[in-house]
Amino acid sequence: MNLFDVYPLMNVTPVKAKDCVVWDDKGNEYLDLYGGHAVISIGHSHPHYIKRITGQLNNIGFYSNSVQNPLQVELGEKLGKLSGLENYSLFLCNSGAEANENALKLASFHTGKKRVIAFGKGFHGRTSAAVAVTDNSKIQAEVNKGHHSVILPLNDLVGVKNEIANGDVCAVIIEGIQGIGGIRVPEAGFLTELDKLCRETGTVLILDEIQSGYGRSGSFFAFEASNISPDIITTAKGMGNGFPVGGVLISPSFEASHGLLGTTFGGNYLACAASLAVLEVMEEQKLIENARNVGQYLMDELGKLDGISEVRGSGLMIGIEFEGSVAPIRKALLDEKRIFTGVSSTNVIRLLPPLTLTHEMASRFLESFSEVYKSPQKTL
Ligand SMILES: Cc1ncc(COP(=O)(O)O)c(C=O)c1O
Repeated sequence: MNLFDVYPLMNVTPVKAKDCVVWDDKGNEYLDLYGGHAVISIGHSHPHYIKRITGQLNNIGFYSNSVQNPLQVELGEKLGKLSGLENYSLFLCNSGAEANENALKLASFHTGKKRVIAFGKGFHGRTSAAVAVTDNSKIQAEVNKGHHSVILPLNDLVGVKNEIANGDVCAVIIEGIQGIGGIRVPEAGFLTELDKLCRETGTVLILDEIQSGYGRSGSFFAFEASNISPDIITTAKGMGNGFPVGGVLISPSFEASHGLLGTTFGGNYLACAASLAVLEVMEEQKLIENARNVGQYLMDELGKLDGISEVRGSGLMIGIEFEGSVAPIRKALLDEKRIFTGVSSTNVIRLLPPLTLTHEMASRFLESFSEVYKSPQKTL
């Protein structure tokens, strides 16, 4: 059976990885500043993570959600403690799109309304509800738009006010920092005003922290910079360091009832063991602080370079925008310098490394990057 060919692939076959380093089948060593798309939070193959997962597998890896699972309770407690959201409840699922799907469902149940406001260049996943709030015409064309949504420019508070005034809006969904849209941080004050407006109108505010959460921005969640309390927060990616797991963090104003939400695999023992290991390592190694420090160093140094249109982001979620295509720069980084990076649109390099990235590794990237992007034939 052939693989359904939906992914443009890099010409690299990784066979081994440790912390921020990946090796391919030819023995080449790569510095990983992409983290499998913001997924690797505590570094590849962390010994504590391996121990937690294999230890759990020796006991029980899976049983359905019809039994008591103390690991889910432990995970909820730990996540509440580290995020400061101890009064929220946790619903566990398997991916980011699924987390958003459940968040949108909850908002609709809670308000009895259907329409959702989302923002330009936002990305929320590939279920039909998530696609309906994702601003990407190519992705939207993949499915029939079954859900009602309106996509407004990021930071358009007046637009949000006008849409809510129609009386049919159940939720506003927004990324803490837009990822796929090119590492765009909402304007200062926008999230605060949005939160206020949602509160005044009984509209559910959903913070999609699937890419920007779990310490990546230098805070546990990126929205913390705005000092707000969203109604629902969605997480995935870094939550499992590669193990597929997603979470919906639900504020106390929502009431649970049996059968309201459900999933077969969500919150299984292995997923919980992986997620607990992530939080334990984040705490033990002070990875949020590291993301903040090393990220700031990278942003400062990148900001000194000529020929870049803009450097933006927070912590270890950084976008480097050029006027032209960054494809040649990324290719040279990969082929000549053996460094993985990500991309957004055609002209933004995205850095999403493990949160364990050291100053030394960051310097190695900066040195290689300066050599590569300055070479005139590679900038456009
Ligand atoms: C902000 C955001 N939300 C949702 C998703 C969807 O997550 P998943 O691919 O796990 O369904 C992504 C994936 O890139 C994302 O970046």
